[in-house]
Amino acid sequence: GPVLAEIAGGSALDIGFAVAPELLDEPEYREIVDTHASLVVAENVMKWETTERVQGQWDFAGADTLAQYAREHGKKLYGHTLVWHSQLPDWVAALDAPAMQAAMEEHIRTQVEHFKGQVFAWDVVNEAIDDDGTRRAGSPFQATLGDGYIEDAFRTAHEADPDAQLCYNDYDLEAIGPKSDAVYAMVSDLVARDVPIDCVGFQGHLTGGKLGDDLQENLQRFVDLGLTVRFTEVDVRIPTPPNDADLAQQAEDFGTVVSTCLAVEGCLGVTFWGVTDRYSWVPQWFPGYGAALLWDEDYATKPAFDAVVEAV
Ligand code: XIL
Repeated sequence: GPVLAEIAGGSALDIGFAVAPELLDEPEYREIVDTHASLVVAENVMKWETTERVQGQWDFAGADTLAQYAREHGKKLYGHTLVWHSQLPDWVAALDAPAMQAAMEEHIRTQVEHFKGQVFAWDVVNEAIDDDGTRRAGSPFQATLGDGYIEDAFRTAHEADPDAQLCYNDYDLEAIGPKSDAVYAMVSDLVARDVPIDCVGFQGHLTGGKLGDDLQENLQRFVDLGLTVRFTEVDVRIPTPPNDADLAQQAEDFGTVVSTCLAVEGCLGVTFWGVTDRYSWVPQWFPGYGAALLWDEDYATKPAFDAVVEAV
């Protein structure tokens, strides 16, 4: 059958999957990543709560397993994520400003240096803006360090690996509106002041049938700043159990994401947030919804897979 990484390679589009390294031992899962991915990203094992659960004690075991897999199979390795309010151990939030600033910089330096030469791009800051376009007040970094933590994070990452691409990553950026406008304003300001930022990640956690018609225009305005963009965490949730109409709508949405990325010079790839509906994070986080990926719970391809094949 059609191989996503191969057909997308013709248009130099990265095809990524979020991977849980332990699932690579499951033959059906492994086979799909082996075959269809040109890029892998850790679904969880590069997050702060895993890599530095206790201050100064590093655990790169899971991440190293994924890095080794990527090396041995010729996949690009994307880094997710360095500074995020979620999946963050409690000790960080308890620090005062000078200690938190030092801990943040040390976390970034240690993790970026560990994967230097292999992670080609990092989500340096994840989800810093709230839905209404204000800074996320609930982030310990925002609350304790203020707005400046974002540029400090990018500068620290750049010093640790000047060759890595450095990205800001967030969800619900697809439509032009308060949130994407705020991210646009923020990254415009960073670019204008020569803060080392290269890219913006559009997570793309979508609900079936909700994409507007301004996605391309929205991507393009970020590219016009001199940045690259990519879809970093795409899934399309639909009510479960899924019916044929919802599966068809979902297929259309996946196709739109891929074809829109292809239509924008500077949109470098599409990463799916998982392989199979069997292990998707969606049902747990959005009760009543699921079936959000290209392969179903039994590893059969869905209409969404065919739509992606058509689109690339
Ligand atoms: C999710 C993972 O898929 C889950 O396994 C975990 O329990 C919670 O995080 N935005 C992000 C990702 O940037 O890291 C999140 O991943 C999904 C939302």
